[in-house]
Amino acid sequence: MAGSARPDLVTMLGSVPLFSSLTTRQRKAIADSGKERSYAAGASIVKLGDKGVGFYLVLEGKAAVRKENRSIASLGPGQFFGEMALFDEQPRTADVVAEGPTRCLVLSSWEFWGALSKEPEVLRSLMQEMVRRLRAPVPTLTE
Ligand code: CMP
Repeated sequence: MAGSARPDLVTMLGSVPLFSSLTTRQRKAIADSGKERSYAAGASIVKLGDKGVGFYLVLEGKAAVRKENRSIASLGPGQFFGEMALFDEQPRTADVVAEGPTRCLVLSSWEFWGALSKEPEVLRSLMQEMVRRLRAPVPTLTE
């Protein structure tokens, strides 16, 4: 509903690179439509192989992306995950686990596509980050 967005969340979204091209009004719409979810340390946020229904933006804490017993990325405030399964409507490609107490803003697939289709710069920014992750060397440490 217009006007119900939490001002601190709208301000925080202003500092997120993915949403830097959006107007305050568009950020308010995202803050309004997304749901905030909190996770205890060690909680599973996304499970490898599950159907993907949400896109996650880390607001606080850290989320570890894990694949084949390896931690392949650690995502902090302003970083996102869960976009891949929404893009191709295929199962989740990795586990994502809260490293400590973690808070995320969760957008439904419908809200995610809405944000991307309204603003091509958001799509470009998301693709840039996906390509950066693709280029990153695979960690060799097993945890
Ligand atoms: P999805 O496949 O929907 O769910 C698991 C998520 O982990 C995935 O989307 C990405 O957001 C994230 N992910 C998968 N592989 C990597 C990677 N190599 N680096 C960072 N994040 C990743």
